Amino acid sequence: MTPLFDTHAHILSGQFDEDRTALLERLPSLGLAGMIEVGTTVDDSEAAAALADNVDYVYAAVGVHPQEAKDAPTDYIERIEALAVRPKVLAVGEIGLDYHYEISPRGVQRRVFSEQLALAGRLGLPAAIHMRDATQDTLSILREHKGVRGVMHCYSGSAETAEILADMGFYISFTGSVTFKNARKTAEAAAAVPLSRIMAETDCPYLSPEPVRGRRNDPSNVRHVLQKLAEIKGVPFEDMCRINIENAKGLYHKL
Ligand code: NI
Repeated sequence: MTPLFDTHAHILSGQFDEDRTALLERLPSLGLAGMIEVGTTVDDSEAAAALADNVDYVYAAVGVHPQEAKDAPTDYIERIEALAVRPKVLAVGEIGLDYHYEISPRGVQRRVFSEQLALAGRLGLPAAIHMRDATQDTLSILREHKGVRGVMHCYSGSAETAEILADMGFYISFTGSVTFKNARKTAEAAAAVPLSRIMAETDCPYLSPEPVRGRRNDPSNVRHVLQKLAEIKGVPFEDMCRINIENAKGLYHKL
């Protein structure tokens, strides 16, 4: 079976409380070779790092999500740093800007994003970046932190912006939303990203891909995202699975 790798998941979400242990036992039999559990708060990041310690094929990213930025404790950078140096913690994330929901004020989001990019730069770690309706500010903050590499997770921007980001050296990662029938813009962005810069993720429990849309998402569904990307890029499914893993290894040097 072609090994699957989910580059961005939230299996610690409450939606998995009933059956998380059973699911984690079952996922390898569904073809999953690895996954990255991504933190959204300091506490969640601590839990993600602990999960990576306990489950062979699980890795972690640690960071404060833009929606949570306003509630970041004053010592959050120290606490994220203590987690980020652990061997199975691959990245600082998810971090970024979300002007769509704007749950944290924009100025707070920008400060917390910049501080965490600076941390990633200091530690030589890549960043997992959330960008929603905030293209210009995201690009300008990324340009202030030139040494930091990263991935634009759950990409929802334009093809033009995707090309700019790929030229800057960023990877572009797609979720189940690329499989949605009304998602032409996202499919166009995937078509514009070179194969050397593309990645696949579930962002579960959200964004279940077709044909399982509407149900709870889980990391094994990265198969459907990879199938769609293979179709868009005109490569065999097996090659797309391999490219996804190669690109993940290209970005996450601890992998
Ligand atoms: Ni996420």
